[in-house]
Amino acid sequence: MKIILLGAPGSGKGTIAELISNDFGLPHISTGVLLREEIAKGTETGKIAKKLLDKGNLFPDDLMIEIVKERIQQKDCKNGFVFDGFPRTLFQAQQLAKITKIDYVFLLKITEKEIVARLTNRVVCSKCKAVYNKNNYTKNTCEKCGGELIIRDDDTLEVIKKRIEVYKAESAPIIQFYQNQIIEVEFAKTPSQFYAPVRAFLKKEVEKHGSK
Ligand code: AP5
Ligand code: MG
Repeated sequence: MKIILLGAPGSGKGTIAELISNDFGLPHISTGVLLREEIAKGTETGKIAKKLLDKGNLFPDDLMIEIVKERIQQKDCKNGFVFDGFPRTLFQAQQLAKITKIDYVFLLKITEKEIVARLTNRVVCSKCKAVYNKNNYTKNTCEKCGGELIIRDDDTLEVIKKRIEVYKAESAPIIQFYQNQIIEVEFAKTPSQFYAPVRAFLKKEVEKHGSK
C-alpha cells in the first residue's frame, strides 16, 4: 500500500504514520525527519535545509524529489510506504505521479488553535524521533529507546505561525490534485481516537485487495 498523509503542521501526520507503519508493516517516510537527519549530520543538504526549516520555509522541490526518489527505491519500500509531509507542493505531487501510483490519500483535519496548543507542547526523541506531548507524557526520556526528549527548533510560536501560513498557501492545489482519492479524517482529541477510522478503513482494504 502506498499512502500519503496530508495535513497542517501538528495535525498528527507523524503520529498516525507511525501507527500505520507498526500495524501494516510499511516504512514511515517523513521528509521533515529526513531533512532534520541531514541537518544533524551537517551535510551540504543539511546546511541548505537548516536555513529554510528554521524559518518555516519549504526545502527546494527539485532537491526534495531527488531525496524521496532515492528513498522509495530502497528494499523496504517494495510493498509500499507511508508518506508524512510529502508531497507538499503541487509540483511535488505532479512529479510523484510520474514515478509511482498512490493508493490512498488521507487528509488530517485540525483547527489552527489546536495546532498551536499541540506544537508548543510537543517533544521528540533525539534518537528514534518518537513524538510525545507534554500534556500526556511528563518523562524526560523516550519510553521506546531511552533517548533524550528535545523541542524541535521550528516549534517556536513565530515559526509555527509561518509554517501554518506556508501550509495554507500550498495545500489547496494539492488537495485539488488528489480530489478523487482524498479520505478526510475528522479531528479527534486523542491519537487513538483519531487513528481508529484510518485503521478500520485500511484493514477493510487489505481484506478486499490484499496488502497490494
Ligand atoms: P515536518 O517535519 O513535516 O513538519 P510539519 O508538516 O510542520 O508537521 P509536524 O511534524 O510539525 O506535525 P505532524 O503533523 O507530524 O504532527 P505530530 O504527529 O508531530 O516538516 C518540517 C519542515 O521541513 C517544513 O516546515 C519544511 O521546511 C520542511 N519540509 C518537510 N517536508 C518537505 C517537503 N516535502 N518539501 C519541502 N519542504 C519540506 O503531532 C503533533 C503533536 O500533537 C504531538 O505532540 C502529538 O503527540 C500530538 N498529537 C497528534 N495527534 C493528536 C491527537 N489526535 N490528539 C491529541 N494530540 C495529538
Ligand atoms: Mg511530523
